[in-house]
Amino acid sequence: MATPARPSSPPSPSPSARRVPELDPALVARWQAGGGELVDLFAEARERLGGVAAFRLGPRPTVLVTAPEAVRHVLALHPERYVKRSHRARLLIGDGVLAATGASWQRQRRLLQNQFTGKGMRRYEQRITAAARAGAARWDAYARTGQVFDVGEEMRRFALDTIWRSLTGHPLDPGTERELAAVPTVVAALPGLPADSADARGAVADELARIDAVASRAIAAVRDGDAGPEGPGLLHVLVEAAGTCSAYTDRLIRDELVTLLVAGHETTATTLTWLHLLLDRNPHARERALAAGPDGSPERRQALQALVSETLRLYPSAWMLPRSAARDDLLAGYEIEAGTDVLVSPYLTHRDPELWDDPELFDPARFTTPGRRPADPGGYLPFGIGPRACLGLQFALRESTVLLEHLLPAHTPRFQSTPTRTAYGITVRPDGPTPATVDG
Ligand code: HEM
Repeated sequence: MATPARPSSPPSPSPSARRVPELDPALVARWQAGGGELVDLFAEARERLGGVAAFRLGPRPTVLVTAPEAVRHVLALHPERYVKRSHRARLLIGDGVLAATGASWQRQRRLLQNQFTGKGMRRYEQRITAAARAGAARWDAYARTGQVFDVGEEMRRFALDTIWRSLTGHPLDPGTERELAAVPTVVAALPGLPADSADARGAVADELARIDAVASRAIAAVRDGDAGPEGPGLLHVLVEAAGTCSAYTDRLIRDELVTLLVAGHETTATTLTWLHLLLDRNPHARERALAAGPDGSPERRQALQALVSETLRLYPSAWMLPRSAARDDLLAGYEIEAGTDVLVSPYLTHRDPELWDDPELFDPARFTTPGRRPADPGGYLPFGIGPRACLGLQFALRESTVLLEHLLPAHTPRFQSTPTRTAYGITVRPDGPTPATVDG
């Protein structure tokens, strides 16, 4: 269970406290003029100034945090001092657990987390396997016919099917799948939407209406007693909660449903797509994982999980975690003023040569050989750390590993082309299509 953050008194000013070192404005201007990616600016700040570094894109500085102990300070030790900003994703996920704060967040998190740990997860095991079998059957058909398909789309379909079954008890039907294509459209549009919330809503009104219609139908079906062929799921838990807790209005149930859809499939789908691209470039890693043990053995499963962990090191889908300083603080000896924007970046931490040897190399053995990953939990955090860490961690690892158990032994995608660029949006994803045929 998430431990609610205990309030602590503000740190007293220390005579030795320093200002966070700030990137030379001339370098920022050069970066802006060059139309560079945000990640390049981050890399420059970290390289020149270290694991707590500031840069200024507007009147106030933003503090980038990549050093493990400082990451831990922000996310795990003092989460009450660094709160989630009310972010744009609210347009899509409303007051769902990902965006909620304070007492509402605690209540929402408590309700859901029983579903995602130990015993609760057992309810979803069979649905994960059923979705993986359906995915493998599609790949069998592609292999037979030689059809070209998009690997990224396939991974999305698998992840969406898995979470949809877990929410509603139904496999994903083609009509719902079509309607839910609006989800990635809104997610991709979010960073570029107008600042005014009414304008922003207007810009994606059609997509939001389609998503809301799917949510209303699913909620109504559960209210009518429909448990689906696979039995009650997460949505039933939410609807039942409304019976005993007035906070669970129809709106909140909708928000929670959409939150789980978004958080539960974008991230996993992107991770699995990266994984196939990385295996394409590193075929020996696939062979080694399969050679680790026979089908279904713990050794094979551990080796497949290491493929996922290493993919998440290089491409942690939530590549930056924004926070806002709720009050003055001392962070790794630096003064942080209340109201400062703070960005934790797992992406940069995971590629820090002081923490990882040869960090650009895809080397899954880091996760099967003791002593090869940083001891500090702030050094590897694809799922975040602390009370706001990912609720779906076990779920995500399980679904990814089970899918690989089904796909990898039988099929190797042969990409016709691969994206040459990376898109650093809300998630870090390959910037372009991933057409392939499959052997097998
Ligand atoms: C590879 C897949 C995934 C990755 C990399 C990932 C990553 C993350 C990260 C980094 C956070 C913390 C964000 C922050 O601190 O600002 C988070 C939160 C969350 N994740 Fe995931 N996630 C994944 C899959 C899932 C799945 C499958 C589910 C649900 C089925 C899920 C549900 C959530 C929820 C509900 C939260 C919000 C928790 C809270 O604020 O209390 N995630 N995820």
